[in-house]
Amino acid sequence: MFSNPLCRHMKGIFVRDLNVWYLDLNLAFPALSPILRKLFNTLAVKFENPIGMVLKEMQKVVDERIQIGSTEEIDDFIDAFKRQSSEAEEGSNKRSTSLTRDEIIAQCFLFMMAGFDTTASALSFVTYLLALNPEVQEKARAETMAVITEDSDWTKLAQLPYLDAVIKETLRIYPLAASTTGRRCTRDTVVGGVSIERGTYVQPDVYSIHFDEGIWGSDASEFRPERWLSPTVPSSSFLSFGLGPRRCIGYKLAMMEAKMALVMLLKEFRVVRTADTEKELSFLGSTTFSPASVTVQLESLRDS
Ligand code: HEM
Repeated sequence: MFSNPLCRHMKGIFVRDLNVWYLDLNLAFPALSPILRKLFNTLAVKFENPIGMVLKEMQKVVDERIQIGSTEEIDDFIDAFKRQSSEAEEGSNKRSTSLTRDEIIAQCFLFMMAGFDTTASALSFVTYLLALNPEVQEKARAETMAVITEDSDWTKLAQLPYLDAVIKETLRIYPLAASTTGRRCTRDTVVGGVSIERGTYVQPDVYSIHFDEGIWGSDASEFRPERWLSPTVPSSSFLSFGLGPRRCIGYKLAMMEAKMALVMLLKEFRVVRTADTEKELSFLGSTTFSPASVTVQLESLRDS
């Protein structure tokens, strides 16, 4: 997989500087967004921008799949979206849910962007915090060892409340997709005494909410998974997966994937801080962010 030439472009998408001029322009002038998007898409392919290159490849693959039709060997996201389209076209009352070719490409791109690196980054942040907090790590390991056995399947993951708490607490401290929770106001409204005009874009200040001592208590800046075991805060205080009907659609999948990976890690290794472990993390990314690096040591539990 790592010798696939597209990896370079994928890396280019995820591991890039936080300051991207066209995103800033887009945020500053949302009304220009359709024009900027078209311009960006054209320039992106012309100048081999990573997003443009990956989009181009996706267009090729989706077009090929539309032509060859479904096969038994391949059954992935593209097929699921295609099925959605053909099912929708069969019944006229379902027509509004039908996906066009461009929508299938957009969905594939969104799922890749939203679903892949987010969970990987979350795991990097968890690993870092486990190395810095060995007592938390031992508690998570003890829970894992007690619940997960050789013949356990994924349903057992629901019986790991402490590990669940570790992931949520990590994402409270590092809300890696905080900037994606913006909304456009669809009618004039007043929130907390502030008037918001129809059409205005609103971006919640996730960091201030996640570190608000009035909500989380005087230890709001500390990593303390225990706070999630019997949470007393309103659910709207945790915005790492967004809120409401447009909340992250992959929330449960992400939590499940992260737990599976952590179970495997905790059962085999102790994550240890070394002299090279970052004192403070620095970040990479734009719409989502990840740590620039996380340096830890893995000690095999079989040796101890
Ligand atoms: C730790 C992992 C993840 C985090 C922190 C995360 C975070 C978010 C956030 C903050 C949003 C915006 C929600 C809002 O506006 O209220 C979002 C949307 C979305 N996420 Fe995730 N996500 C993660 C994993 C995933 C996975 C695994 C998938 C799919 C396989 C996924 C697919 C999506 C999609 C499709 C949307 C757009 C939903 C919509 O607009 O209706 N995400 N995510």
